[in-house]
Amino acid sequence: MHDLKAQLLRGLWYVALVAADVRPGRLVHKTLLGEPLLIGRGRDGGVFALRDICPHRGIPLHYGRFDGETITCCYHGWRFDVGGTCVEIPSLRDGQEMDLGKIRCGAYACVERQGLVWVYFPAANEAPAPAEPPRMPIFSDAAAPVAGSPARPTTPHSV
Ligand code: FES
Repeated sequence: MHDLKAQLLRGLWYVALVAADVRPGRLVHKTLLGEPLLIGRGRDGGVFALRDICPHRGIPLHYGRFDGETITCCYHGWRFDVGGTCVEIPSLRDGQEMDLGKIRCGAYACVERQGLVWVYFPAANEAPAPAEPPRMPIFSDAAAPVAGSPARPTTPHSV
């Protein structure tokens, strides 16, 4: 039953954060559906979401450093790009061959829209995420909800 409930919650987009809470060059840790997420905004302004667990020894990546393009794990310094692929292992020596592209921490589809950061949780064995999250009819396309305050509808309430 627990597995069925868990599966019914997947295959959907979720609002993870108010976009203003993810500043350029910053990382935010968040748990959604019981999964640890690392949400960030790169130097180019784009948002991304990774699994917040280093594939080497399991340290949360949010303890590491982010230079706007790569995240460096705080433990042994493995470095990952914003797509979740390992790009450097500092302890490798000349002549040691390793396909770093096969080392991944896991990435989620992540979209910024109407001032919100959306993350897609795929169902088991699901193909890539649908192209876009749903549009929130009460939010303006132009004005983002203000971080830390309730969302304001774009049209007055009728009583
Ligand atoms: S635990 Fe992250 S590099 Fe070792």
